[in-house]
Amino acid sequence: MKTTNYKGLTNPQKNLLDAAEKAAETAYNPYSQFFVGAALLTHNDIIITGSNIENASYSCAICAERAALSRANAMGHKKYKSIAIIARRLDSKIEEVITPCGICRQMLYEASQVSENDIEIIMSNTKKDKIIISSIKELLPLAFGPKNTGVDVKKYH
Ligand code: THU
Repeated sequence: MKTTNYKGLTNPQKNLLDAAEKAAETAYNPYSQFFVGAALLTHNDIIITGSNIENASYSCAICAERAALSRANAMGHKKYKSIAIIARRLDSKIEEVITPCGICRQMLYEASQVSENDIEIIMSNTKKDKIIISSIKELLPLAFGPKNTGVDVKKYH
């Protein structure tokens, strides 16, 4: 785990975070008015974004991270190097970095198994002056995954 800021990112990391920031503006968030953007970097360097999408039945909400994963999957991209996440409120910035919820961590873990890569997770506050870089293994230790069910996910590469 490393704490840094925008200046401390590599150019590919900056591009990914900027894409996530742009994606956040597409959030469908009438209930929380919380804008979250996520950007996945595929193993062949394609950026695929997602934003949170809510529902009058609140528990139907899909986080930006899962929206990006779902979109990438449907586009035929199943292996990822990295994901960047950023958020803001309607009228204010968030001071602390946004971190993926438990369900998103579980889905990112599955994706890491298909990817055969410990997916990097770049988490930013709104101003991008506080950024934490971690990985799914670090954010979800002792994860339950395909191996626990005896399933080989290699054929989905
Ligand atoms: N949300 C995300 O999109 N990603 C996260 O990492 C945390 C939460 C969304 C879900 C919901 O639309 C809103 O933020 C408030 O929880």
